[in-house]
Amino acid sequence: MPTLTLLPSGKTLDVTAGTTLAAAIVAAGEKLLSKCNGNAQCSGCHVYVNEGRKSLSKIQKNEHEKLDAMVGISSKSRLACQAQMGEENVTVEILSFV
Ligand code: FES
Repeated sequence: MPTLTLLPSGKTLDVTAGTTLAAAIVAAGEKLLSKCNGNAQCSGCHVYVNEGRKSLSKIQKNEHEKLDAMVGISSKSRLACQAQMGEENVTVEILSFV
């Protein structure tokens, strides 16, 4: 089972492939801003994927459109509510603080 590492806390947890990053982050006890119930609408769950980006699920149209409209995105940006774990280890940096 792949490991998800969360920054800046450094917490790690084993996550089943297919689980969204958002669900895993919340399960780890970290706070993640969400105002759209995981529908790629609020951008509050924006994270940077520092490692393992290629093993995540591909960006779909709704996530792509939302990222395009946001400020402060980079090539590492994903919406945690949309990105699903694959089979490899992933490190994400949580950007929203609530
Ligand atoms: S929770 Fe709103 S965009 Fe991800």
